[in-house]
Amino acid sequence: MKEHTLSTVFHIFESPEELPAPDRDLLALARQSRAHSYSPYSNFKVGAAVRLSNGEMLGGSNYENASYPMCICAEQSVLAAAASRFPGEKITAIAVTVQNPKRVIEQPAAPCGACRQVICETERKNGQTMQVIIRGETGPVYVFEKGGDLLPLGFDGGYL
Ligand code: THU
Repeated sequence: MKEHTLSTVFHIFESPEELPAPDRDLLALARQSRAHSYSPYSNFKVGAAVRLSNGEMLGGSNYENASYPMCICAEQSVLAAAASRFPGEKITAIAVTVQNPKRVIEQPAAPCGACRQVICETERKNGQTMQVIIRGETGPVYVFEKGGDLLPLGFDGGYL
């Protein structure tokens, strides 16, 4: 029997002001996009924004449905939109920020498992890793170098 350790290194910035300007801008777009969240059932607003290899940015938000399992997370909505609108472009970073009307979320909310799976699929499809930049409503920003850091031992098309 052998033991193996999985570890993840990420960076913590005390506030968005500490981020490099392009990452600060991306997080600002995620925050703006969060305001467009369609979330009448959970009231939990999520905004996401991606940076493309041509330098452009695109924002998206969660999009809920009365049939709850059909709710689309912000990360998935923006990744699908980017692939449709900018098919030739790779995604180099995604920023995500949340807002809960019941209490201020002061720590980054990590993407759900399904979103991690979609982020990793996009990285594999594009042959390009993306930085994952996450923040709550306030507080510090966590930066992961690649989506795969959030989904160790993930399932991918290589098995099929
Ligand atoms: N949500 C996201 O948009 N991203 C995540 O990673 C987690 C959850 C959304 C889905 C739903 O609209 C609301 O947050 C509450 O789960």
